[in-house]
Amino acid sequence: MTELVLISDDGPVRTVRMNRPEKKNALTMAMYDAMAAAIESAPQNPALHCLLIAGAPTAFCAGNDINDFLQAAGASGALGQPILRFLYALARCETPLVAAVRGNAVGVGTTMLMHCDHVVAASDARFSTPFVGLGLVPEAASSMIAPRLMGQARAFSLLVMGRPLTADEAKAAGLVNTIVAEDAVEAEAMKAAREIAALPPQGVLASRRLLRGKPDEIVARIDEEAELFKTRLQSAEARAAFQAFLTRKR
Ligand code: COA
Repeated sequence: MTELVLISDDGPVRTVRMNRPEKKNALTMAMYDAMAAAIESAPQNPALHCLLIAGAPTAFCAGNDINDFLQAAGASGALGQPILRFLYALARCETPLVAAVRGNAVGVGTTMLMHCDHVVAASDARFSTPFVGLGLVPEAASSMIAPRLMGQARAFSLLVMGRPLTADEAKAAGLVNTIVAEDAVEAEAMKAAREIAALPPQGVLASRRLLRGKPDEIVARIDEEAELFKTRLQSAEARAAFQAFLTRKR
């Protein structure tokens, strides 16, 4: 079976690549676990000084696999443990995070970027969080981070109205650092990762802690959102929206 997440260490940079292009990198529980493990274990290798999250040329990440959502809706309704593990790993990660975004970044594909320190995007990348349209609520502490990052009006448009952001809009909103042509994204992101990795590591660690504040507040919001998410997953609105996506005509 193809590895759904590819982990490769190259000098001081670990690349964590989502690798389910035929499903536009919709994330399964196994993928969340693999990504969480790659993030959590980075400090065990003292040579690693930066993490780079990447996807496929046609898709950064289509968000949570909607089949899994539908399954959870019929069961406990809880956000799967691997999802929470991944979100906690992002919140508590002390290694700088860079992301290379090509194609669509949907749902957690966009909210994971709010935990990154440097984001490079293709000029045709697109960012969206259709949580409310799916009968859900925002996750990954995006309900706290997004208003701080881009202001209430833009956060509401993105997270509640579900209006997508173009690469230019995402940059103006503070979510993206650099926009380049699609075929230059990976090289530009690796360049930034190496630049960060070349800095004095303890200086980066201390400065990053100051910039981000304590992760507990973020973890508490992840938990608060997850409670609401659980109720929403079991709602008739959510089930209808999942079914509509999975049975849509193209
Ligand atoms: N869950 C499960 N399957 C998904 C998926 C998801 N989140 N996103 C895409 N897929 C599947 C499609 O069902 C399709 O499968 P099929 O080829 O077996 O029919 C395949 O991936 C390709 O998707 P497709 O929609 O044909 O690609 P596209 O380039 O036209 O559109 C997206 C890409 C990401 C815009 C679109 O797939 C989409 O909107 N996906 C849902 C995103 C979403 O709502 N995620 C949840 C966020 S909370």
